[in-house]
Formats: sequence, structure tokens, C-alpha cells
Amino acid sequence: MTGIQEESFLNDLGLSLEQAWQLLREGSTDRHSPLHTPVVATVTTSGTPSQRIMVLRSADQQSRDLRFNCDARGGKSADIDENAAVSVLCYHPEAKVQLRLSGTALVRSTGSEADAAWEEASLYGQRCYLADPAPGSPVGAPTSGLDPAIEGVKPTPEQVRPARANFAILLVEVQTIEWLYLAHTGHRRARFDWNEAAQEWKSTWLVP
Ligand SMILES: Cc1cc2nc3c(=O)[nH]c(=O)nc-3n(C[C@H](O)[C@H](O)[C@H](O)COP(=O)(O)O)c2cc1C
Repeated sequence: MTGIQEESFLNDLGLSLEQAWQLLREGSTDRHSPLHTPVVATVTTSGTPSQRIMVLRSADQQSRDLRFNCDARGGKSADIDENAAVSVLCYHPEAKVQLRLSGTALVRSTGSEADAAWEEASLYGQRCYLADPAPGSPVGAPTSGLDPAIEGVKPTPEQVRPARANFAILLVEVQTIEWLYLAHTGHRRARFDWNEAAQEWKSTWLVP
């Protein structure tokens, strides 16, 4: 967990922001971190919110990008095509920190970043993208969506190759971070808004 001590960030906006990114980075690399699986919310084409758990694959403080992997044919891709607004929610019980992030997303299935993410995925991970018909399709019987021949066995690179066409990365450019720290001495809440013109975060404390 983050090495930043409570006494340091409790009354320091800069350190609170630093801690938020540190927790996100740890979440992306440590599968045991509660921030490894945040909730990602989109707005559906009918205007309703839609949330789902996703695995956080990377968090880059410099570019303010969070990366997730997804199936390009899924519901969230269609949502984002129509409306790029997304929010990401996570809570770290040990750090006692809730992060509410918002920003804009794009789904990219080609390019070097998507290629690298595909190469990084395990064969089992890649196999998920073989689902046929597409994820979310109504079907008449229970199914994994996979050919029974590759269920329960480690797939080969040849077997998963066709799945690459369905694989995509979902990139969130973070524009707002709301940080809430729970402390028995009194909670702390701060908001950080990215100012594009000034290329810096505008920070303010909020009443929790
Ligand atoms: C622990 C966990 C991790 C998940 N990770 C991902 C993920 O990284 N990418 C993804 O697309 N779906 C992931 N899912 C499935 C989604 O929550 C969701 O059910 C699926 O993507 C369909 O969402 P959609 O119809 O909104 O596209 C995960 C689910 C769980 C429970």
C-alpha cells in the first residue's frame, strides 16, 4: 500500500493528489489491491448510467490516462462511441480512501498500444475475446460464448488469434479526481480539476 503517511497528506492538497495516483498505480500492478478492479460507469445510448467492474491495467499520472481492456463489440464500447463521458469509482479500505474520477474515454482496437496490451494478455485472457456471438447477445441456452472444444483447456496461440479482432483498449483521460479520506479525527475531501490551458490541476478542499 502507499507509503505516504496520513500526517503528510491530511492537510496537504498536493500530497493528497500524489497519494491518489500512487494508489491507482498500485491498483494497476497489484492484483491484490482493491483498486485493481474499479467500477467504470458509462452513459448508455438511452441516457441511463451503466456500471461494471473492470481490471485496471495501467495508470499514468503524466498523461492522466487509465487503461482497461475490453471487447470492442461490448455494450460499453457502444456507449462510449455515442458519449465519451465516463466515471471510475474505487475504494481502498486499508488506505481508507475513496476515489471518484471522471473524464472522457475512447476505445481503440488498433495501434501500438492495443497491440502491446494484447501481447501482454495471457492465452486465457485472450480467449475471452473469442466469444461468439458478441458479449451481451441474448441466447436461448446458458453458454460461455466459447467453442466447447477450447473450454477447460489452455488455448493455443493459433486458437486465440482470431480474437485479436475483437480486442480493444479502453483509455480514460482523467479530468477530475475527487478524493475522500476517512479519519476518526475528521474526514478529508478534496477535488482536483485538470486545467487544460494551464496544464495543471486546480485543487480545492471540500467539506466531506
Ligand atoms: C472481477 C471482474 C473483472 C472484470 N474485468 C473486466 C475487464 O477488464 N474488461 C471488461 O470488459 N469486462 C470486465 N469484467 C466484466 C464486466 O464487469 C462486464 O460484465 C462486461 O464487460 C460487460 O459489460 P458491458 O456490457 O457494459 O460492455 C469484469 C468483471 C469482474 C467481476
